[in-house]
Amino acid sequence: MSTENTMRAIGQTVLGGPEVLKEITLERPSPRPNEILVRVRAAGVNPTDWKHRATGGFLGEPPFVLGWDVSGVVEATGIGVAAFRPGDEVFGMLPYPFGHGSHAEYATGPARAFTRKPAGIDHVQAAALPLVSLTAWQALTEQAGVRPGQRVLIHAAAGGVGHVAVQIAKSLGAHVIGTASAGKHDFLRSIGVDEPVDYTSVDFAEAVRDVDVVLDTIGGETGLRSLRVLRPGGVVVSILPVGSDAFYEEAERLGVRAVRMLVDADRTGMEAVADLVEKGALRATVARTFPLADAAEAHALGDTGRTTGKLVLVVD
Ligand SMILES: NC(=O)c1ccc[n+]([C@@H]2O[C@H](COP(=O)([O-])OP(=O)(O)OC[C@H]3O[C@@H](n4cnc5c(N)ncnc54)[C@H](OP(=O)(O)O)[C@@H]3O)[C@@H](O)[C@H]2O)c1
Repeated sequence: MSTENTMRAIGQTVLGGPEVLKEITLERPSPRPNEILVRVRAAGVNPTDWKHRATGGFLGEPPFVLGWDVSGVVEATGIGVAAFRPGDEVFGMLPYPFGHGSHAEYATGPARAFTRKPAGIDHVQAAALPLVSLTAWQALTEQAGVRPGQRVLIHAAAGGVGHVAVQIAKSLGAHVIGTASAGKHDFLRSIGVDEPVDYTSVDFAEAVRDVDVVLDTIGGETGLRSLRVLRPGGVVVSILPVGSDAFYEEAERLGVRAVRMLVDADRTGMEAVADLVEKGALRATVARTFPLADAAEAHALGDTGRTTGKLVLVVD
C-alpha cells in the first residue's frame, strides 16, 4: 500500500530465480533537472530484466528495481523541462543500462528519453514498444541503413525484438525473411514476413542466400553463421553485445560487416517509433499482461524463451 510519499515497486536484494522478486515500498522519487516523474501505468518486461535478476549483469549486486520500458502520465517535471507538463501521456525507455526502475508505481528519467504516447494506443500497447522498437530501429536504420528492396533476415522473428523488427523492416521497403519454429509461421506472415524459415528443421545458413542485412537476436554460432548468407558488402547486426572475436575475424575474411550493439535511450528514435504507430505500420503483439505484483510470474514465463511478442506489467 503506497502513501503520498511512497510507492510500490518490485525489488530484489539477492540474485536468483523469479522468486527473489518481492513487492516492496520505497520512497517516491523526485525529478532532478531535465527529468520527469512518470506515474507508471504499464511497463514492458524484457530478457534483460530476467538476465539482470539472475546475474546482476551491468548493475552488479542488488538491491535494485528493474525495468526500462515505461508508459504512463507525467506527474511532475524537474527544473528546465520544457517538452512536457503534468498530465501528459508519455512513453519511453529509461537510459540503458543504468536508468532502470520502471517496475514500480513511479519512475524518473530524462525528459529526452520520452515522447508523447500516440492517442490511438493504450498504455499496455505503448509499454510493450520502447526497448524492442528502439533496438530494432537503431539496428536497421543507424547500423544497417536498410534500403527499399533489400533482403533482410531477422532471427527469432516472433520474439519481442523480432516481431517489431519485421514491421520496421517492411516499413523501410525490405523483403523480410524471418526464423521461427513452424507453429509460429502464420503469426510471422500476419506481421509481414515474406519468407518464414523453420530453424528447427532446416539450417538457415543453407536455406537462405543473398541477404543484405541480418538482425542477429541469438548470438554465438547463429551470428557467426549468419555472415555466410550475406551478399558482398552486407552486414550482420548482432544485439548480443558480448561474444568472441571470431565474429569480426570471419566478417573480415568474407568481405562483409559485423556489428554488435546495445540499445541507447533517445527521443529521436522514440519519435520515429511513435510515427510508425500513428501510420499504422507498427503494433506490438502482447502475449500476456500481469499485475505489477505478479512480476515474478512474468519473469518465469519470459525465461522460457518461447514468448510470441511481449509481456507487460500493468500498474493500477
Ligand atoms: N543489445 C541490445 O540492446 C538488446 C536489446 C533487446 C534485446 N536484446 C537481446 O536480444 C535477445 C532477444 O530478445 P527478445 O526480446 O526478442 O527475446 P524473446 O522475446 O524472449 O524471444 C523469444 C523468441 O525467440 C525465438 N527463438 C528462440 N531461439 C531461437 C532460435 N535459435 N532461432 C530463432 N528463433 C528463436 C522463440 O521462437 P520459437 O518458440 O519459435 O523458438 C521466441 O518466439 C535477448 O537475448 C535480449 O537480451 C539485446
